[in-house]
Amino acid sequence: MILEGNCLEVLEATEFVTIVTMGPDGPHVVATWGDYIRKLGVKDDRLSIPAGWYFDTEENLKRDSRIQLLVAARQVQGRMGPGQGYELSGTGTILTEGDEVDRVRGSFPWARGALVIDVEKAEAQL
Ligand SMILES: Cc1cc2nc3c(=O)[nH]c(=O)nc-3n(C[C@H](O)[C@H](O)[C@H](O)COP(=O)(O)O)c2cc1C
Repeated sequence: MILEGNCLEVLEATEFVTIVTMGPDGPHVVATWGDYIRKLGVKDDRLSIPAGWYFDTEENLKRDSRIQLLVAARQVQGRMGPGQGYELSGTGTILTEGDEVDRVRGSFPWARGALVIDVEKAEAQL
């Protein structure tokens, strides 16, 4: 398990999550709310995020499935004092049909799909 301990604490407190994919001309940055991830829950190092848009992200992931996230929370203890953040790396895909999309739409009826991320590595930054 990668998403546990201090890293999970940060995920449980982060206000928003930065999401980076590789675009044709360089990195592409989008975001989601921490609340959205918490509402859907984390299981087996897999995160689901409601995709309202993420159209460029979807195209990027089709070319290169690598994805990086940054989560951070001031109120979680880091190694140097209050505040910790983790860079999460893994692979991602946008699903637009199937059980997982139905589950995401149950909480977020506006979602056109689910951005599903398998986290393979977590690195503390502070
Ligand atoms: C704090 C924050 C939360 C966001 N949450 C979502 C979200 O949950 N789902 C989503 O599709 N877009 C969300 N957005 C918008 C995306 O960052 C992005 O601008 C939009 O989805 C277009 O993505 P694309 O550039 O990959 O096409 C959020 C933006 C911010 C700043």
